[in-house]
Amino acid sequence: MSSQFPLIRREIAGVSIEGLVQQGGTPVFVYDASVILERIEDLAAFDVVRYAQKACSNLAILDLCRRQGAVVDAVSGGEILRAEAAGFNATGDSHPIVYTADIFDLQTLDLVVAKGIHVNCGSPDMISQLGERAPGQPITLRINPGFGHGHSQKTNTGGEQSKHGIWHEDLADCLSRSERYQLPVTGLHMHIGSGTDLEHLAQVCAAMESMATLVGPSVTLISAGGGLPTPYQSGETHIDVEAYFDLWDAARKRIEKTFEHPVGLEIEPGRYLTAESGYLIAEIRAIKQMGNNIFYLIDAGFNDLARPILYGAYHPMSICHRDGSMHRESRQVVVGGPLCESGDIFTQTEGGYVCTRELPEASVGDFLVIECAGAYGSVMGSNYNSKTLAPELLIQDGQVRTIRTRQTFEEMISNETIPDADKAS
Ligand code: LLP
Repeated sequence: MSSQFPLIRREIAGVSIEGLVQQGGTPVFVYDASVILERIEDLAAFDVVRYAQKACSNLAILDLCRRQGAVVDAVSGGEILRAEAAGFNATGDSHPIVYTADIFDLQTLDLVVAKGIHVNCGSPDMISQLGERAPGQPITLRINPGFGHGHSQKTNTGGEQSKHGIWHEDLADCLSRSERYQLPVTGLHMHIGSGTDLEHLAQVCAAMESMATLVGPSVTLISAGGGLPTPYQSGETHIDVEAYFDLWDAARKRIEKTFEHPVGLEIEPGRYLTAESGYLIAEIRAIKQMGNNIFYLIDAGFNDLARPILYGAYHPMSICHRDGSMHRESRQVVVGGPLCESGDIFTQTEGGYVCTRELPEASVGDFLVIECAGAYGSVMGSNYNSKTLAPELLIQDGQVRTIRTRQTFEEMISNETIPDADKAS
């Protein structure tokens, strides 16, 4: 079924937008827990669902995923500590936390070794650095099969333009490194990009099979990585998860046959679990006509949601009128934020070209809701222009809970100092 996004919206998960704004102010991120739970359930055919928390790592979201049976991926020391703070154990069945990266910074290497976190190595150097500190620890290798695909060139993680993973031709060198340090290679991982498709997937599965054959029967788990796309525009459909699983399952079965032992199949989605659950509610604070363009200027900017300026990403938008209207004439508008930078525009295409969007007529004080903002939204927020980080609300079973308060000005400057301020007069 194709997705339909409304142009006028009065509520999210049964809670009125006015009510949500009363609780969180604007701009505010709101997540509908039921969507996340449903998306995890969609992937139940996979042996392990490993949430790529970089998409949305609020502790309450991680806790929700954990309770639903997902484990978690961490790409930094901070994400390891976040996962622990949300109740994941460092070690255990299915490796509750896996560190996936292309480097170890020194603190993260210490953390990984101290806690025995399973590592998915994205460079030959990581194997040697881990081997010197923790010989005998099983590892996963992230392979770059030599090609990739993503919704944007910036989210393509395969091929020789990408810094990610172990270059497929370096596998032999990596295997001799892992032997030298007695690090058994128990897992193989491929993630070729964010927002990929079934056509490319068949190629990835074939590459996985040939890599597994080269590594040999120490492999007990293969990971399909993340990258499952989600609809961002009316008319787009959800990916056929069954077909996605079937392709990987067939590859897994062929590998099992070669090795004559069971091989687990893991998937590592970020966007798929959280994108559609999230909304960014902002208030329209000014409406201006500039030549032929009408601008709706809202109180959220790319400090809150960076995807449009970074990738020209399209997000559905809707209006919630203060007067409760359900019908209004539409018009073509440009939607911009408050930042002192002309790129602070939510309606733009890749390359920074400003475009218009058909939205209902609105007035200053009405709310504008940016939809599908749950993945790579709040986590990519910044303090640019000294804007404080927006709060986050979670709706579950009709209840609205604040899962992050709005950052205060004092919090924002709390780790800054003026040298010798006490002596200055
Ligand atoms: N696994 C690995 C190793 C990854 O690098 C990523 C994403 C994922 C899983 C999850 O990918 P997903 O299922 O979310 O597509 N900021 C960009 C996306 C960057 C993705 C980085 N890596 C965006 O807003 O579209």
